Amino acid sequence: MEFSIANLQPKERASFALRALYEAAGCRKYHMGRFEEYGLYQENRSFLSSEQVITFTDLDGRLLALKPDVTLSIAKTAQPAPGETLRYYYHENVYRPSAESHTFKEISQMGLEMLGAVGEAQVQQAVCLAARSLDALGAEWVLEVSHMGYLFGLFDALGVPDAARAKLLEKLREKNAHELRAAAGAAGLADAADTLCSVLDLSGAYAETMEKAAALCKNDAMRAAVAELEALAVPLEKAGGVIRLDMTLAGEMEYYNGLVFQGYLKALPRPLLKGGRYDLLMQKFTPGAGAIGFAVYLDELDRLSAPLPPVQKNSTDRVMLNVALPKGRLGDKVYHLLAGIGYGCPEDYNATRKLVVENPEAGIRYFLVKPSDVAIYVEHGAADVGIVGKDILTEASADVYELLDTGLGKCRMCVAAPADYKDDPSRPVRVATKFVNIAKSYYASMGRDIDIIKLNGSIELAPILGLSDVIVDIVETGTTLRENGLKVVTEFMPISARFIANKASYQFKHAEMDTMLEKLRAELQNKEEAK
Ligand code: PRP
Repeated sequence: MEFSIANLQPKERASFALRALYEAAGCRKYHMGRFEEYGLYQENRSFLSSEQVITFTDLDGRLLALKPDVTLSIAKTAQPAPGETLRYYYHENVYRPSAESHTFKEISQMGLEMLGAVGEAQVQQAVCLAARSLDALGAEWVLEVSHMGYLFGLFDALGVPDAARAKLLEKLREKNAHELRAAAGAAGLADAADTLCSVLDLSGAYAETMEKAAALCKNDAMRAAVAELEALAVPLEKAGGVIRLDMTLAGEMEYYNGLVFQGYLKALPRPLLKGGRYDLLMQKFTPGAGAIGFAVYLDELDRLSAPLPPVQKNSTDRVMLNVALPKGRLGDKVYHLLAGIGYGCPEDYNATRKLVVENPEAGIRYFLVKPSDVAIYVEHGAADVGIVGKDILTEASADVYELLDTGLGKCRMCVAAPADYKDDPSRPVRVATKFVNIAKSYYASMGRDIDIIKLNGSIELAPILGLSDVIVDIVETGTTLRENGLKVVTEFMPISARFIANKASYQFKHAEMDTMLEKLRAELQNKEEAK
């Protein structure tokens, strides 16, 4: 068979297309080895997505690492002369831990860096090349743009203490209005909660959102950020895809100091391109220099060559919103609510063993999944949205948007023990639980050493049989504890069902999601008022 680029896998084709794009833009290929001094990562931990790095001792005794990142090595080695802009692109493998497979993964990255004299022209060139990179991949795409200066300017204007910033950024990143408000209150910023929550509305079409963002400016830092974003509108207009502004994006990328952006391709559940301006990091290596760059995660493209899943083959032209519904009482409750606002299906899923029911006219499809799996389906994009208990969501630490607290299925996470239990500080507490991560992080925050016993149900049995000292579990009515002679020792996390969304689906189906959310909010409010 003759060689043809068309027969290659999507990620191989992409590497040819991107290489041509970057060479034509005057970028030079930057080749580097797989190893780097471990010290570089130790000194720049905040730049890495994980502190876990594969290390080994070289023959001369130096501690080396398999590169978890390329940008740091380029920033360290490239030495732009004053006034010079270096333009590089690379195609390298990096090694990062994967929480899902509990091992390190080899990740193929292609990226571009501009280092040295970085002004408006270079910033525009870099962002436009990011947009054109997405356009070269042959599928519908969305580029989300934001600016760190806007959010940090707002934090300064509101007097947000340094200690509270990480939490607020986390809640902004999750688009989690209810917990953002709570975090603002806990930081003594209750008066600023409305303003902070209004940042969540700054997500949408570029020009329209820009106007809203400009109206919220409170200081020069915010105005400068808006001006820089405004200057991008015209160059980005010609890029061919959808450009969105999202001021919550800054919560994802704390090490950047200016413009930040993230690209999505339709059919891929995670962002495929990430980048931004990182002058502060660059200045550690070359005083006075600036830097902007981005990376394309080529492995994500493997999905493009997978056949369309059967459930999507039957679909109509209408955009279908795929909902992961937890099997059981909570799922039934949520389904009835949604059916009441126009998202019902002709088929009663409880009358059959079917796991998929749909109503193409209403643009809705439900998957009946085990409650503990909802966040997994949504994070991986098999479902666009889902309803999941905060207990399960926290335990899975899923990377999803948490768009609404439905207030349904209220209960609380507790430490419980036999009525006569007394903590013996001379030894670790033996804790039985389904929620291993939640229990670990709770006891870590208390500075108490524990031995975890992971169980899958009937947790209350463990202390009764002497298998554990205490349990960490959800308590709703308290009946199970009472009837088994246990009592609550501490209550530490309120729980209810949350409406979550896949981050990529949010880009491509935000109109459908917003409509559903608005109707759901109104319906929940009506029910609350009718009580
Ligand atoms: C949950 C939880 C408690 C019980 C609490 O168990 O693990 O056992 O509910 O509810 P209550 O306070 O109203 O008594 P679930 O019914 O999910 O079964 P499991 O024990 O098998 O996990």
